[in-house]
Amino acid sequence: MLHLRSIAGVAQGAVKASQPFRTYASAAPTAAFAGNKGSNGKYTVTLIPGDGIGPEISESVKNIYAAANVPIQWEEVSVEPVLKGGKTVIPDAAIQSVKKNTVALKGPLATPIGKGHVSLNLTLRRTFNLFANVRPCASIQGFKTPYDDVNTVLIRENTEGEYSGIEHEVIDGVVQSIKLITWDASERVARYAFHYAQSSGRKRVTAVHKANIMKMSDGMFLSACRQVSKDFPDITYDEDLLDRVCLQVVQNPQPYSNRVMVMPNLYGDILSDMCAGLIGGLGLTPSGNIGRDASIFEAVHGSAPDIAGKGLANPTALLLSSLMMLRHMNLYEHAAKIEKAALTTIAEGRNITGDLGGKASTKEYTDAIIQKVLKA
Ligand code: IPM
Ligand code: MN
Repeated sequence: MLHLRSIAGVAQGAVKASQPFRTYASAAPTAAFAGNKGSNGKYTVTLIPGDGIGPEISESVKNIYAAANVPIQWEEVSVEPVLKGGKTVIPDAAIQSVKKNTVALKGPLATPIGKGHVSLNLTLRRTFNLFANVRPCASIQGFKTPYDDVNTVLIRENTEGEYSGIEHEVIDGVVQSIKLITWDASERVARYAFHYAQSSGRKRVTAVHKANIMKMSDGMFLSACRQVSKDFPDITYDEDLLDRVCLQVVQNPQPYSNRVMVMPNLYGDILSDMCAGLIGGLGLTPSGNIGRDASIFEAVHGSAPDIAGKGLANPTALLLSSLMMLRHMNLYEHAAKIEKAALTTIAEGRNITGDLGGKASTKEYTDAIIQKVLKA
């Protein structure tokens, strides 16, 4: 009980009703940002460039930040796994850096499929107990997609569920994979979702589930959401089946705008990609992994090895993730300035990358944003 209360307390303490929330709202409420400015007036933030296109898109963010005079100095670390006591682990220097700075920006890291080391993305989420994965999905005004009114926030439980990684072969030809759901993690992410809704002016929280099938696990997830909802009488709470939501959202996303959807891990993984498809793809959607002691902001897309090093990658998702980070750090003005520059560059369409239907290189797109930042 003490555990639950202490986390809830931290979350509550950080809510500021007056905080301006914009499209890519701060990931608050969570543990208040604890960073200290150094003697040079800058905050130190951990940067994990990642692999594939990661270094190129990180470079783009760094250049835009330099132009916007964001008071941040980057501490670049590699999370290339090292062998320690027979296990592959993240290098200690990376762990210490995130612990010390409490915020990190992370590029994509390739995950081996069906074999090989455990996903480093998951290892990072687990190592720092980043319990909520916040994935806003909003149409970019002026950028033509099948829908122009998407504005939803999906919050994904980020530490357990189908991602618990507990799998074994029972007998030859029979494999068991355990979906682990705990009350604590469900309550914690539900509380986070309600706080998020409250502080971002969203009036409704929908828990997305398959409790018709997984009666005990998803059933308990829903019980936790229901219990938390009682502490938020001003916010409408309801529940919907995952398959139904998928169908409804692609037919008409409008009713899902201005709400927060909260759900177990795998559902959030899949539904967030689907929502990204409504607004132009994973190149445009940010995310934040939120914990009590640290938060890691990352692009949701993969490392795109096929175009790595060719100067073609779209850095927008990483840039928008970094703006969630800036708002988390209360650097609202810098975030607003960069956001406006990036979104207008996309809306104008002259300097957009190939994935968005344009012909610009990463550098041309980045430079177009920088020109706008400098004029702002
Ligand atoms: C995501 C990604 C990750 C996930 C992969 C890379 C492990 O798809 O962040 O959505 O499945 O969570
Ligand atoms: Mn995913």
